[in-house]
Amino acid sequence: MHKDLSLEACFGLIFLSNGKPVPAGSAPNGRLPMETKNSTAERKRDHIRICLERSVQFKRKSTWLEHVHLLHNALPEISAKEIKTETRFLGAQLSFPFMIEAMTGGVPEALEINSALAESAESLKVGMCVGSQRLALEDAESRRTFRVAREKAPTAFLVANIGAAQLSERPGEKAAGAVEMIEANALSIHLNPLQEVVQGEDQAGFSNVLKTMEKAVEAVDVPVIVKETGCGISREVAKKLITTGVSCLDVAGAGGTSWAAVESLRAEESHDDSRAGLGREFWDWGIPTAASVIETRSVTNLPIVASGGLRTGLDLAKCLAIGANLGGAAHPLLWPATMGANNVIREIRQYMTGLRAAMFVVGARSIVDLRRTQFLVTGELMQWLDQRKIKPRGEPSARKRK
Ligand SMILES: Cc1cc2nc3c(=O)[nH]c(=O)nc-3n(C[C@H](O)[C@H](O)[C@H](O)COP(=O)(O)O)c2cc1C
Repeated sequence: MHKDLSLEACFGLIFLSNGKPVPAGSAPNGRLPMETKNSTAERKRDHIRICLERSVQFKRKSTWLEHVHLLHNALPEISAKEIKTETRFLGAQLSFPFMIEAMTGGVPEALEINSALAESAESLKVGMCVGSQRLALEDAESRRTFRVAREKAPTAFLVANIGAAQLSERPGEKAAGAVEMIEANALSIHLNPLQEVVQGEDQAGFSNVLKTMEKAVEAVDVPVIVKETGCGISREVAKKLITTGVSCLDVAGAGGTSWAAVESLRAEESHDDSRAGLGREFWDWGIPTAASVIETRSVTNLPIVASGGLRTGLDLAKCLAIGANLGGAAHPLLWPATMGANNVIREIRQYMTGLRAAMFVVGARSIVDLRRTQFLVTGELMQWLDQRKIKPRGEPSARKRK
């Protein structure tokens, strides 16, 4: 267990390293005299605790990456040593095309988690996105839990994060504030309409998102990424998002962590049967990640991040082949992050190992080669693409990619 944070810290009681509990909301080790009874902070703690304690993955729907088949090459004619995984992404050089996806910040336990994630990003030269900075924009004291990411990852590609709904007021100021807070290399704006509806939040913030996004893009001097949070992005939505001047789309598709699930379980705990039921109803809602990558790639040459349910290096390799520039994961890194950077590093290295193995057996020397490798699409994914009249990359009428 990592030094100051025990699992109990995520279950409402924070245990000091001497084993004595202090009430949730008070400062562990006297270091973070910040959030008390604050609903955003409580929600953030609930999210971490529920994601660690309960099963929050999609149940009856997958990423559909099992319907993507890379063509085996029995004669790769390369040695494993020749394989190069380095890649450029939004101006940064990464050791392999991987990003730690947005998770947390703003509450005491996030300090340790973000510290471990950032140390890993720095050591492995991969990207990292912090969790929503909404809380820290409102409460100066909680900024430390985000700034720790830059302290621990002085040279890493670090991405700031804020919800589109929260940008409806003073978008430019908030976007610039989030970037400045962690000296970010990019800003990611998340779309989470399903989570908001299950959470019972006021959904008014979603009525003017494209305008808001334009203002955010104007206000910052770093690239802006738009990401979903586990329900995917369709080609129609991608087309609209592109008009705002954003630089990258992160599909965060269905098949991994379900935010309807997380909010349903939260509602269950507070005996809100109606919201709990709604969350169960929409548990498996969304566009599977593989379909979302192909949909978005069919309408843009902008960089695309594949995320939502990527659990292996082979998943990552398939996503790169069907059109993504980078892959990312959130949930698989959460538990390791509570136990320190070494555990996160081990987990991320496993993605790298699987990716390299996939590159070897398809005969790809570089990420560019892998992104050109042949693949086949079967099953439900093929039916989906047929009905949507979308040709995956490589088929005659498919668009050329960068
Ligand atoms: C504990 C936790 C907290 C998250 N918080 C945020 C957040 O603050 N902002 C955001 O854009 N996405 C957030 N996400 C969503 C992830 O970034 C990601 O899009 C989603 O979990 C799908 O990826 P996965 O299947 O690899 O977990 C969070 C995910 C987890 C597991």
